[in-house]
Amino acid sequence: MSKEYIQDVLISTEEINSILDKLALNITNEYKDKNLVVVGILKGSAIFMCDLIKKIDCNLRIDFIEVSSYDNGVTSTGRVNVVKDLSDDISDCDVLVVEDIIDSGVTLNFLLNFLNAKQPKSLKLCTFLDKPSRRKIDVPIDFIGKEIEDNYVIGYGFDYQQYFRNLPYVGILKPEVYEK
Ligand code: IMP
Ligand code: MG
Repeated sequence: MSKEYIQDVLISTEEINSILDKLALNITNEYKDKNLVVVGILKGSAIFMCDLIKKIDCNLRIDFIEVSSYDNGVTSTGRVNVVKDLSDDISDCDVLVVEDIIDSGVTLNFLLNFLNAKQPKSLKLCTFLDKPSRRKIDVPIDFIGKEIEDNYVIGYGFDYQQYFRNLPYVGILKPEVYEK
């Protein structure tokens, strides 16, 4: 069914796995003996985060925050709302924010300020994908899985109108789907 929506497979399941291995190794080296809390941004990053933490060899806790910035289309509305805040206190914790993709940077710029106000000991950012050509606000990224061109992607957590998050690979959405 998803074949009529996908132009090409951009990142295969095998490549996803090697991206996870590389990120997890770097994160493990950074957070050995620290008080790590991994914060996932719902919903997109949940799939990536769950796979990633199984490969991180550190004591860690997890938490989630949900924001909305997209209005069921493919471009950002520019407004960010916190739909669900963290469940636990992160003051004095080493917080690693895990995001699925940084596009304009609007969401992450807002979230880093929002989380910094909770006074964590440290705050770093890991993203599975980065679309640097689309950036409107610069955000400091500490761990990047892969840089991609300006294509709208679906699968492995990425949705189009809330569907396709369950695909085990990342595909490029056919432009005619959203240009209709
Ligand atoms: P930003 O605020 O423009 O950086 O948008 C970030 C959010 O937009 C991400 O967390 C995704 O949820 C969503 N997003 C950006 N590009 C894509 C894409 O290609 N496919 C699916 N979601 C995307
Ligand atoms: Mg997202």
